Amino acid sequence: SQKHLFTIVVLGASGDLAKKKTFPALFGLFKNKYLDRNTRILGYSRTKMDRPQFEHHISQFIKLKTDEDRALLSSFLKLCSYYDGQYDQGKDFEQLERAIVEAEQASGADARLYYMALPPSVFIPVARNLKQHNYRKDKLIRLIVEKPFGMDLESSRELAKDLGELFTEEEIYRIDHYLGKEMVKNLMILRFANVIFGSVWNRQCIDNIQITFKEKIGTQGRGGYFDEFGIIRDVMQNHLLQILTLVAMEPPVSLGAEDVRDEKVKVLRFIPPITKEDIITGQYTASEDGKEPGYLEDKTVPKGSKTPTYAAAALYINNDRWSGVPFVLKCGKALDQQKTEIRVQFKDVTSNLMTNLARNEIVIRVQPNEAVYVKMMNKEPGLGMKTIISDLDLSYASRFENVAIPEAYESLILDALNGDHSNFVRDDELDAAWKVCTPILKTIDRGEIEPIPYKFGSRGPVGVTEFVAKHGYTRSKQA
Ligand code: BG6
Repeated sequence: SQKHLFTIVVLGASGDLAKKKTFPALFGLFKNKYLDRNTRILGYSRTKMDRPQFEHHISQFIKLKTDEDRALLSSFLKLCSYYDGQYDQGKDFEQLERAIVEAEQASGADARLYYMALPPSVFIPVARNLKQHNYRKDKLIRLIVEKPFGMDLESSRELAKDLGELFTEEEIYRIDHYLGKEMVKNLMILRFANVIFGSVWNRQCIDNIQITFKEKIGTQGRGGYFDEFGIIRDVMQNHLLQILTLVAMEPPVSLGAEDVRDEKVKVLRFIPPITKEDIITGQYTASEDGKEPGYLEDKTVPKGSKTPTYAAAALYINNDRWSGVPFVLKCGKALDQQKTEIRVQFKDVTSNLMTNLARNEIVIRVQPNEAVYVKMMNKEPGLGMKTIISDLDLSYASRFENVAIPEAYESLILDALNGDHSNFVRDDELDAAWKVCTPILKTIDRGEIEPIPYKFGSRGPVGVTEFVAKHGYTRSKQA
């Protein structure tokens, strides 16, 4: 467990994120003995809930497999309590403060972790109230914040400035939960601990890199939130760009948070803003069988909205390692499958000794079914000298049988408790990511890019195949 004993306060406890991610992750840490048994967890939000309602709310997404799990859940719930109050009322935060102090007296905690699982509109009012009423010089303070961090470069800077007046960069932990995923955390090891990968990781050998995020679900009731943001702000500006920086960064001086983040910022600063020529967008319509409604049929979506639910963009990193190599980022909702993967496609073999060749690829599958596999040419077994494409396959389910892969949120909350910033987004990193996306977002917001319709459950808008082909990707001609 940690050097400090924390009191954890979840602001926005009645919300979706808290019930689906935050509390299940806290339970996971508790179950695996990463959380001190004396840790007190306080929930705060506007909704009035009695004890049974609160317990139901925070445990409904916790998976319980055994009787032992059930017993653990009941001990976990004993650590949790709930307080309702307004987000803009100082007196309610004073009341919360009394509850925190009481919890601290019972546990002996010397540190506080504020977890802001809040809608953007109340973000700053809550941060102000926390600073004014719940900030103690004699306690170590850490603050976890969740996206959206603004809508564009300007609003993100404004938010950073307002938050920066209240809390120091040292105190702030900006979550991008993709940085907590097992295979994303594996990227630096794959690249910097393997000569066979590290030495070919450059424009001399690599033709293009595809980073793909696909979801089967549509916006399903979140349409109101989603429509303001769109897929580029929701997924590409954060999750996909974060993956890109880890794929492309130079080796850091050390694994320390500042060294790692220095290198990530550099990559982002080498990327010119996405242009109109290098993007296509889409919006989903009803499914073929009519069972799944189209985006515009979601009652929470404004009529005639042109918000993209799909986007594919080609980015270029203008440095010595990557100059000319397209990084194609693709993301979309309501597609044919759920999958996140990184596909590194190598150049063609130059010699014409053999025929029927396909390009080498290294594929890192983030989810589902974590895996790393390498597509390579092999001799087809038998008497001839025919080539056949084959896989060197490291599928986690078979190689690391019975090893539980931690949830991203567990990993990140634990990092925050341990004071490790390496998997959190630094202020200048966020700024650089917005610089890449803001101009194209403005063009889209002005309605200058028409989203191409695609059917719910399909592979995405027509034109995507041509788009990726134009940016270098060659589908294997072999089976
Ligand atoms: C969130 C987005 O950040 O990530 C959602 O707001 C998306 O729209 C989610 O569904 C995907 O996360 P995961 O971990 O389920 O892949």
